[in-house]
Amino acid sequence: MKFFIDTANLDQIKEAQDLGVLDGVTTNPSLMAKEGITGRENILKHYVDICEAVEGDVSAEVIAVDYDGMVKEGEELAALHSQIVVKIPMIKEGVKALKYFSDKHIKTNCTLVFSAGQALLAAKAGATYVSPFIGRLDDVSTDGLNLIDEIRQIYDNYAFETEILAASIRHTMHVIDCAKIGADVMTGPLSSIVGLLKHPLTDIGLKKFLEDYKKGN
Ligand code: G3P
Repeated sequence: MKFFIDTANLDQIKEAQDLGVLDGVTTNPSLMAKEGITGRENILKHYVDICEAVEGDVSAEVIAVDYDGMVKEGEELAALHSQIVVKIPMIKEGVKALKYFSDKHIKTNCTLVFSAGQALLAAKAGATYVSPFIGRLDDVSTDGLNLIDEIRQIYDNYAFETEILAASIRHTMHVIDCAKIGADVMTGPLSSIVGLLKHPLTDIGLKKFLEDYKKGN
């Protein structure tokens, strides 16, 4: 399972990278705004900064919602750095844009996916990644993990190469459950990655080992 961090915060990205388990980064316009990154030039520069801070894919989202606009913007994003993946919303024009970039061998991430049907369309259009938002489904009393399960089954039935990128991960159990189902990638906040290492018995056990070592030395 690949681990992506879902943030535009460079310090957090570097912390995850330092841990040695990071495979990529996802961003979106809201995450950029949260870091105070505004204005086209600043946003483009920030994508390059992120690419230089990590190894692996970095999703950069288009703002256009029409086909021509998405193609123009996506090409501009893809030209920024070899690690850029063009993130495209699951709308009709987006499906066409996914196909365009797939034909050009430019990586894409189809975002805002909330149903198995949408995920099937994204795979048919040749998306590199599909991003089902499990936390936002949970927020509206719908089982987000069930969607991951459905997409896994569909993609396996037809050997689609599109990778399931479980997004809108909120906590460590989302990560573990997605791994059990077989999501190819998870993207979540730093806390959902670092939280995986925590266990009180580890802390208690280590404390005791160190105390016993000191007794004999
Ligand atoms: O990757 C998608 C993600 O940024 C959405 O997460 O927590 O805003 O639902 P959230």
